[in-house]
Amino acid sequence: MKVVSTVNELQYLLKELNLSPVGFVPTMGALHEGHMSLVVNGIQRCPIVVVSIFVNPTQFNDKNDLRNYPSTPEADLGLLQKIMREKDIVFIPTVQEIYPEEDKRKFLFENLDNVMEALHRPGHFNGVAQVVTRLFDIVKPDIAVFGMKDFQQLAIVKALVKQTGNKVKIITSPIIRENDGLAMSSRNRLLEPEIRKHVPVIYKTISAAAEMINDNDISKIKSFVSDRINKEPGLKLEYFEIVDDIELIPLRKKSEMKRDRHYVGCIAVTAGNIRLIDNIEIGLV
Ligand code: PAF
Repeated sequence: MKVVSTVNELQYLLKELNLSPVGFVPTMGALHEGHMSLVVNGIQRCPIVVVSIFVNPTQFNDKNDLRNYPSTPEADLGLLQKIMREKDIVFIPTVQEIYPEEDKRKFLFENLDNVMEALHRPGHFNGVAQVVTRLFDIVKPDIAVFGMKDFQQLAIVKALVKQTGNKVKIITSPIIRENDGLAMSSRNRLLEPEIRKHVPVIYKTISAAAEMINDNDISKIKSFVSDRINKEPGLKLEYFEIVDDIELIPLRKKSEMKRDRHYVGCIAVTAGNIRLIDNIEIGLV
């Protein structure tokens, strides 16, 4: 694989290689098996894949979170080296390279940007939209792979692609979990060992919530989730919502469920001082 840091180098290589479709996997580094599954997905579909590693400052509403975001460049390249082919490219730009000027663009996503993560991380999705459009302009991918763990981000990226008329096809990869069920995340490595013991309860709880849907009201399921999470030492529920996969409208009653939509239970929990998110498909049988 080749490693480049400038837009010029990247675009020169892509032009020289002249392969299509071009696959793209945007990441913020601190890579784990979840990211690897996205890259493998891209490799299976495309003769050339670009992986970007860029911790995007504009999507961090909390400056401490940005400061503490894990950075493991050598380990990242080691992992990518194992699966990427000779022609594939790792793009590791500087902030100046991505934002030669301050990005002042404001994106509107209606309801998608009014629920869940958006309420708890104001401005976050505007920053994601800024960097994703910028990276798409630079890489010009035919296919881009995103993980299901960031479910709301995925809905936002799909809406963004529609809004901007970009022809890129968005592919999703399922959540990859640790053996104890914890969804893989770059932030997991920041968990204190004492707290780490308790976090598997997050996936256990949403799995149980998914089982409850046939015989219980939404409010009962939400109380169950909140009680279960908040009684676990070190954990605090931020939100649990059951939303549809297109507009992300939180369900209040089961009767609002539409046959032509998929529903997903989305959770955010603070574990010590680390925020974790996860989700699970919820369907009536
Ligand atoms: O999901 C992430 O890691 C980031 O939000 C993304 C899509 C790479 C944009 O910075």
